Amino acid sequence: MEIIILPTSAEVGRTAAAHIASLVSRDPSAVLGLATGSSPLGIYAELARGVELGLIDFGQARAFALDEYVGIPLDHEQSYATVIRTEVVEPLRMNASLVQVPDGRAADIEAACDRYEADIVEAGGIDLQILGIGSNGHIGFNEPTSSFASRTRIKTLAPQTRDDNARFFASLDEVPSHCVTQGLGTIMAARHVLLVAQGAKKADAVAAAIEGPVSSLVPASILQHHPHATIVIDEEAASALTLADYYRYVYEHKPHWQRVPPLPY
Ligand code: F6R
Repeated sequence: MEIIILPTSAEVGRTAAAHIASLVSRDPSAVLGLATGSSPLGIYAELARGVELGLIDFGQARAFALDEYVGIPLDHEQSYATVIRTEVVEPLRMNASLVQVPDGRAADIEAACDRYEADIVEAGGIDLQILGIGSNGHIGFNEPTSSFASRTRIKTLAPQTRDDNARFFASLDEVPSHCVTQGLGTIMAARHVLLVAQGAKKADAVAAAIEGPVSSLVPASILQHHPHATIVIDEEAASALTLADYYRYVYEHKPHWQRVPPLPY
């Protein structure tokens, strides 16, 4: 695991965006895994600036969203299909036909989940999966006790997740109680996972994920077993880490040829 602690959430967005820009400049048809929620918004905004400036081109990139709510219409402003379109596809000028979001409205959800998994395989697998982390340690919507082997499926959202996400809806009652999410097995199959977290509310989950035992009670802790995981967090999100100084030391001493070039803007 590479752990990068940065002073501000703005720098988290820029550094994570640099990883994605570097991948897409090397491989314009890379396959991205997209997270929604607040955490990756800074990444998408930074990448959108690069696209505006003509320095990054996502026109050939493919993408698969991590998750989708069940029980709200496709055109609901908080459906992840809508959020991915407005926050990612349009600003990054992606080809919408190359971007998929799990189908939370399918008559046969299980068949739709199996198809989603098959589509990821057919695309050659995910090159870089962007992740946020829930305050309960979830990634995607793999809530505590999710199987480490799980694949895309329907899940019940934990009460804590519904509370956390109520800020996006008019009231708690409007937050869906179910979702479709890539599984932990799906996420672990990505070639590179890039998790971002900002703010003190994430500090305990981040510490448990990085330094705690690998346990399905903290689903993000499975990333300790990932061969290429990059964690980019701000000082507040890092505040409960025991070895924060060590991670800073290692990052400062990272060999220059292994460093991802900073965004050129
Ligand atoms: C979103 C997702 C979730 C969020 C997590 C953090 O697609 O899969 O795991 O990343 O709930 O949400 P925010 O970023 O809103 O704090």
